[in-house]
Amino acid sequence: MTATFRGQITLDGPSGTGKSSVARAVAARLGAAYLDTGAMYRAATVVVLDSGVSLDDADAVARVVAGATIEVGTTADAELVQVEGVDVADRIRSAEVTRAVSPVSAVPAVRRQLVDQQRALVAAADAVVVEGRDIGTVVLPDATLKVYLTAAPEVRAERRAGQLGLTTAAEIADLAEDLRRRDEYDSSRADSPLRPAVDAIVVDSTDLDREAVVDKVVELAASTVGAGERS
Ligand code: DC
Repeated sequence: MTATFRGQITLDGPSGTGKSSVARAVAARLGAAYLDTGAMYRAATVVVLDSGVSLDDADAVARVVAGATIEVGTTADAELVQVEGVDVADRIRSAEVTRAVSPVSAVPAVRRQLVDQQRALVAAADAVVVEGRDIGTVVLPDATLKVYLTAAPEVRAERRAGQLGLTTAAEIADLAEDLRRRDEYDSSRADSPLRPAVDAIVVDSTDLDREAVVDKVVELAASTVGAGERS
C-alpha cells in the first residue's frame, strides 16, 4: 500500500515558474487540498478597485479589504473565488487586477487578514498544497515540505506568453518587463518579501517540463512520509 502524505507542502516562487499548475497537479496526485494564496490577494485587489479608493492610500486599502468577504476554494480541480458571494474567478486574472495586485499585497494589514484566513483554511485540511510567495517563510514556517520554484526570467516570460496567447517578440518583451517589475516589487517590499525559506528545497524548472517538476515534488513529499514512519 502506498503511504499517504499528511501535512503541508508550501510552493513559493515568482510568477511564470509554472507554480500554479505544478501545485494543482501535486495536490491531485496526493489527494490533497490546494490553496492559491495569490488568488486571495487578487480578490482583495478586486475589492479595492471596486471601492474606488486610491492604491496609494494604504489605510483606505486596508479598511475596504477588512470590510469585505473573500472566499476561495481548496480543491485542485475547481477554481472558486468569490467576493461578497459573487464569482470573480475570471476577473482576478485580468490585466487591471494584475497591475494593481502588488501594491495591495504590500499593505501589512491586508497581509495579516489574509494570512489568518489562509492558516484557518490550512488547519481544516489533513493534507494541503499551498502556493504563494511567503508561505514557507511566514504563513506556515513549520510546514512538512517547503519547495521554492524558480526558472530563468526569459523562460518564465515565454511560458506566461504561451498561457496568455501572446506571440510577437514585442509582446513577449513587454511581458518580461512586467514580470521583472512585479518580482522586484514583491521581493523588495518590507512585509513578507518573496524569498526562499532557509529550509526550502529550491527547484529550478528552467530545463524541466511540468511533469518532471510534479514528479520531483511528489517524490520529495513521499520522502517526508518515510521520514515520519521512521521517527
Ligand atoms: O501568484 P499570483 O501571480 O497570482 O500572485 C499575485 C500577486 O499576489 C503577486 O504579485 C504577489 C502577491 N502575493 C503575495 O504577496 N503573497 C502571496 N502569498 C501570494 C501572492
